[in-house]
Amino acid sequence: MLIKNIKTLVGVDEDFCQVKKGAEMKNLPTINNAWLLIEKNKIADFGKMETCPERNDDIIDASGKMIFPSWCDSHTHLVFAGSREGEFRDRIEGLSYEEIARRGGGILNSAKRLRVTPEEDLLEQAWTRLEEVKNFGTGVIEIKSGYGLTVESELKMLRVIRKLKAISPLKIKSTFLGAHALPPEFKENRNGYIQLIINELLPQIADEGLADYIDVFCEKVAFSPAETEQIMEAGSKYNLKPKIHTNQFNCMGGIEASVKHGAISVDHLEVVNDAEIEVLKNSNTMATLLPSAPFFINDHYPPARKLIDAGLPVALATDFNPGSTPSGRMSFVVSLACIKMKMLPEEAINAATINGAVALELQNDFGSIARGKVANVFITKPMSSIAFLPYSFGSNLVETVILNGEIS
Ligand code: NIG
Ligand code: FE
Repeated sequence: MLIKNIKTLVGVDEDFCQVKKGAEMKNLPTINNAWLLIEKNKIADFGKMETCPERNDDIIDASGKMIFPSWCDSHTHLVFAGSREGEFRDRIEGLSYEEIARRGGGILNSAKRLRVTPEEDLLEQAWTRLEEVKNFGTGVIEIKSGYGLTVESELKMLRVIRKLKAISPLKIKSTFLGAHALPPEFKENRNGYIQLIINELLPQIADEGLADYIDVFCEKVAFSPAETEQIMEAGSKYNLKPKIHTNQFNCMGGIEASVKHGAISVDHLEVVNDAEIEVLKNSNTMATLLPSAPFFINDHYPPARKLIDAGLPVALATDFNPGSTPSGRMSFVVSLACIKMKMLPEEAINAATINGAVALELQNDFGSIARGKVANVFITKPMSSIAFLPYSFGSNLVETVILNGEIS
């Protein structure tokens, strides 16, 4: 497939650069008036129109349009049962997200529904969401368990993710989040639930190869840093690297614990202190920010500027889930990053593409327009400039989705 007359080819990567940190995050190389050649499922070549190869068939004319590398959404809970608009109403009437969680709502509310939902139903619901985000331009996605909270139902969720991996053209990675909330059956026995994760769930998950990563919700309403460490240690015995939910509401040592265990990413970071920024500077752990969560629950936004100005890399992801972010729309996340966190459009786009790929260890194959990478890209509607994308926060500017080199 040859795409010609591309107004701007965005996220061009000539030197196969990997993570973008600090000041480099502003650097989003582009080619104006470009062509892009896709062979089989890979990006074969690209350049300026003056050098465009001759070809008679399989040509797309992209006059006035731009091409972006697909979004890499490195944090979602896309497998869930039903919705939670009752809690949405409760928050409008004054309850906070944490208060709802303490009353047994929140994650436990979703767990109750998921446990009684058959696997095929869950798959169908997740598939509909995956199709939606595909049309929003996402080509790589991470999906977590964490609404089962029993052996049977956590495995059910992970098997749904495995099925999605098999049938979807998106590149999917799967994360085991058994430690998302303490299930009611273990209310008086925290350690009992942690032991169930370590001794019953982890061996079965490893045996069936059901997870790529392990996650813990490290927060006052969920698990402590010591419990998080215990679970990360257990995961490492099965080569499951951590990606940890932390610092959503409180600074309580989650970042330090995660870095100590070689976490690939720490996610949320609505609150971060200076000492934690220092810890991140001495690590390879990605700071993954999820601004549509504070948008939806009306909380404050992560200090993206402070992180980037400290020289750190930042990734952006949706956190698509039924409680704090019922949206999988990456372009809205990019808009929020610009509007609410003062990231430049170029920084936000790098955070949502190459750095998202790094947060899933997929930067060698996804996240930029580089020769030899998988051809996961989207063609936009006609656009005046790159900034037009985050500026048009209510529009879907993705016109054509190409995954594995095929129009999808
Ligand atoms: O990342 N904070 C923990 N987990 C999810 C929300 C889960 C839920 O409310 O269902 C999050 O925001
Ligand atoms: Fe999350």
